[in-house]
Amino acid sequence: MQITKEDLKTYFSDSIFTVISETADRLGLECYVVGGYVRDIFLQRSSKDIDVVVVGNGIKMAEALGKKLGKKAHVSIFKNFGTAQVKYGNIEIEFVGARKESYQRDSRKPIVEDGTLEDDQNRRDFTINALAVCLNKEQFGELIDPFSGIEDLEKRIIRTPLDPDITFSDDPLRMMRGIRFATQLNFHIEEETFESIKHNKERIEIISKERIAEELNKILASPRPSIGFVLLDECGLLELIFPELITLQGIESRNGRAHKDNFYHTLEVLDNLSQHTDNLWLRWAALLHDIAKPICKRWEPKVGWTFHNHNFVGEKMVPNIFRNMKLPMNEKMKYVQKMVGLHMRPIALAEEIVTDSAIRRLLFDAGDDIDELMTLCEADITSKNQVRKQKFLDNFQLVRKKLKDLEEKDRIRNFQPPISGEEIMETFGLGPCRQVGTIKSLIKDAILDGVIPNEYEAAYNYMMEKAKKLGLKSIK
Ligand code: CTP
Repeated sequence: MQITKEDLKTYFSDSIFTVISETADRLGLECYVVGGYVRDIFLQRSSKDIDVVVVGNGIKMAEALGKKLGKKAHVSIFKNFGTAQVKYGNIEIEFVGARKESYQRDSRKPIVEDGTLEDDQNRRDFTINALAVCLNKEQFGELIDPFSGIEDLEKRIIRTPLDPDITFSDDPLRMMRGIRFATQLNFHIEEETFESIKHNKERIEIISKERIAEELNKILASPRPSIGFVLLDECGLLELIFPELITLQGIESRNGRAHKDNFYHTLEVLDNLSQHTDNLWLRWAALLHDIAKPICKRWEPKVGWTFHNHNFVGEKMVPNIFRNMKLPMNEKMKYVQKMVGLHMRPIALAEEIVTDSAIRRLLFDAGDDIDELMTLCEADITSKNQVRKQKFLDNFQLVRKKLKDLEEKDRIRNFQPPISGEEIMETFGLGPCRQVGTIKSLIKDAILDGVIPNEYEAAYNYMMEKAKKLGLKSIK
């Protein structure tokens, strides 16, 4: 992280920065790279988008740069926002005039006036995002860090440049962004900043669901997503943006028997899973796998606390949750549903003697998603009892091995019944009717139960035998 002034210059050695520098000097405009790009240099992370603040007219600057770069450059102008984008090869640079902004209480749309670099830095979200590097020749590569952003990067602190109440009321999405950065970077949110989130939380209501979902996705995609959900809970935002998760909280005890706190269990599963996969939608499935437990919770005197069918009820809840949060309603949502619905199956298998028939049925239901389902279920084993935990994990190994063996032998994963409904209708001269469905599922069950192999001839003979019992005759 120790980057000297000379080192910093080397990060701007790409010829594009020289061209920007020359253009800015020629126009007599001050130009600075700001925000995420500078922060990520100090974090040694790669950053894609380059944001440049121009003291003066950003559009004029972008147009002049576009001319200088020639045909290979593509300039887009957003007049309403006073910004312009220059695309050059795979480089994207956003130009914006330095602004003084103030926001109205009920809207994210700012009243904008021209300003200085300092004004611009003042209105940024966090000290670590308010760093600027000058591109003009005289001061090329010089860091301007008025809020000790570098010190905060070193101390791993998220803090607003101004009074946090001002920064957050200017743009309440920043409360989510702060928690998201803390999660992505494993940083601490400074006390005053966090207190301010607590009492400004209600302002989140003016932010669109889509933007909130975007931040939630970034939290979920972080190395340890639980950090974000615990912070969201502590500051009171979680209750406002994701009340379903709050209902998972708490422990109830009767006759000395307590169930676990399903909120913390869920977060543990999510963190476990995140060590094994980057699949965002599988992480969503982990977050929602027990979402119906509060609804399904019962006390049964003989067995204690039960949560029967919480997987199926949870599967049914997923579409509403996705719709409310403006998450995609497409195959990604269906995938999450499927995972929530199936998440108890491998565990149930591992608890009993693992029969081939049960394994084939699991393969049939999970299809190509079987490996991911197994990853989710393994992450779901959070027992504190090490002996019990090991027993489950060993059984899982056995389930995985059997899955592999049976798949090689029977190819059930993408199972298509060897005899179609049409062939059944043609063979017995039937129209579409219940009997066709009955014969079809008899064949399917026979294959999954291992009564007959997954082959055409065996299935055909089996069909004839069963049809006879049903009083059907072949017309062929
Ligand atoms: N910014 C801000 N308030 C916001 C959004 C952005 O002050 N609500 C400023 C910050 O200075 C930020 C810069 O605009 O660094 C660029 O924003 P953006 O591209 O959204 O984020 P990055 O910081 O680059 O980080 P990431 O790409 O991870 O979102």
